[in-house]
Amino acid sequence: MKSVCVLLCLALAHGISANIFKRSHRPDPDSFIVQPQDYINQYQRPLYRPQEQTYKQYIRAQKHKQQESSSQESREGIPDGYYVPVGGAAAASARDWNAPLYSAFIKAQNRDASEPAFGESIAWSSLNMAVQPDALVQKQIQMIFADAKKATAHPSAEEKTKFHDAFAIATQKDEDLHLNATELLKKYEYPVEEHTVVTDDGYFLTLFRISTKKQQINDVTVKPAVFLMHGLLGSADDWLLMGPGKSLAYLLADAGYDVWLGNARGNKYSRRHTSKHPAVNDFWQFSTDEVALHDLPAMIDYVLKTSGQEKLHYVGHSQGTTAFFALAADFPAYNEKIISMHALAPMAYMKNARSPLIRMVAPNSPFQARLRRLIGRGAFEPSAELISTVGGDMCINEIGCKNVCSNVNFVMSGVSIADVSAADAAAAVSHLPAGGSVRSIEHYGQAIASGEFTKYSHGPTINSRVYGTVEPPKYNLSQVTAPVTLYSAVDDWLAHPADVARLQTELAHAESYEVPEPHFSHMDFQFSTKAPELVYKKIIDSMNVRA
Ligand SMILES: *[C@@H]1O[C@H](CO)[C@@H](O)[C@H](O)[C@H]1NC(C)=O
Ligand SMILES: *[C@@H]1O[C@H](CO)[C@@H](O)[C@H](O)[C@H]1NC(C)=O
Repeated sequence: MKSVCVLLCLALAHGISANIFKRSHRPDPDSFIVQPQDYINQYQRPLYRPQEQTYKQYIRAQKHKQQESSSQESREGIPDGYYVPVGGAAAASARDWNAPLYSAFIKAQNRDASEPAFGESIAWSSLNMAVQPDALVQKQIQMIFADAKKATAHPSAEEKTKFHDAFAIATQKDEDLHLNATELLKKYEYPVEEHTVVTDDGYFLTLFRISTKKQQINDVTVKPAVFLMHGLLGSADDWLLMGPGKSLAYLLADAGYDVWLGNARGNKYSRRHTSKHPAVNDFWQFSTDEVALHDLPAMIDYVLKTSGQEKLHYVGHSQGTTAFFALAADFPAYNEKIISMHALAPMAYMKNARSPLIRMVAPNSPFQARLRRLIGRGAFEPSAELISTVGGDMCINEIGCKNVCSNVNFVMSGVSIADVSAADAAAAVSHLPAGGSVRSIEHYGQAIASGEFTKYSHGPTINSRVYGTVEPPKYNLSQVTAPVTLYSAVDDWLAHPADVARLQTELAHAESYEVPEPHFSHMDFQFSTKAPELVYKKIIDSMNVRA
């Protein structure tokens, strides 16, 4: 006990000496430009209708409903005072798709300390306490960051300045920064439909459909549906942000495919449930397992039914690939519904992942316990300070753009600005993160520690109850028989080429393709100006051959 105190006191007295965590002043307010302020704005408009209901009112309504439900059947399973679609659940149309819960959200945050504290600020002092110069922890941190740094493009000072200036201009001028998927597609004159699917466990998910442009319909024979599934903390927007002629969704529509964009539970387009309220942690108790085993089947079956097809092409990025492999392993019948699967930045094995954020939440990291407390148990909405702790500062040194480096998607996945235009980066930063759960992040941390592709671990006791085993079960990849192409990149912080190589050996029918570009990274699959030529063309060519 005494020695613990001595260590802590020493560390405290020593103050902040680690390079990475060096921080002599409050964060520069500039670093807040993108997050959290713009992030919050993004959720307030146009995604949520103004809502007068407070968190207390919601709870009261819930209690009321519980009392009533014994005597009277609740209206189609939807709680009173929470979300009232005009005409009942069956008529839950695009207009009603997004329950206006943001204000309840914010109020819950201030009301009761035992309720989830969204966006809770990381306690810098407590994090620094562990980091004295000779500490083992400190060595581990240096290692984590050195690995990440190795897989980072290092632009010249001149390139950094140019990018930063162009980014500032793009942020002021580009109206696309604030448009949702429907508005983007309408602006570029693509026909768009919004669809809502309910999963078997009660989540409402939004799907966007792009049909071919009218004038092309006569020229093209009917092509199959293509389902695009975004990555971790992403949304359907990610397939659209570089605009027509560049982003994959447009290219596929131009090529005559029936394009569908999925949205996982918890992202900004899929934040509604028959009975759970997103201001309560209960809503967020899901990892990639639930996206794989509930969201994907609901969306894929809906797409097939609505388009009248028996099979579709699947393109996933990041978590969109993890979820696919989990689905096809656990429900092998879904392999039969897939013409071809294209995995961009495939994530099943994570042993070699270099992302500091994910490695620091891994159970074998000395930071895990502390970070776990700081990132909460519900929605993953890290504070600006946490972001700069887990890589933002390093990113700023390497890339020189605070706006990009205060964005959790970039800090988590790695950054290269060489081939991302400032306008596309600005669009990405304003649309990401689109929301997700803490559990999904932890699940990847667990995969780093275990080196295996398993279900989410709840800890031994709950695992025994949920899975019947102390360890979470592994996904059996030999059950994945759909034809898969794996697209990987050397500088990807999340999908490491070595992990992708192992994945390939365990899949029944997998080809692999490493993007021939030295600094291609995780986000480049969706935002690099070279993606159309190096990646999308290959995808579309390969689909055309199979169509
Ligand atoms: C997109 O924005 C438009 C206009 O604000 C709105 O009518 C529509 O419901 C939104 N759709 C989605 C899915 O966010
Ligand atoms: C995995 O699936 C294969 C069939 O594809 C089966 O032979 C094997 O026993 C399974 N492995 C486990 C551990 O269940």
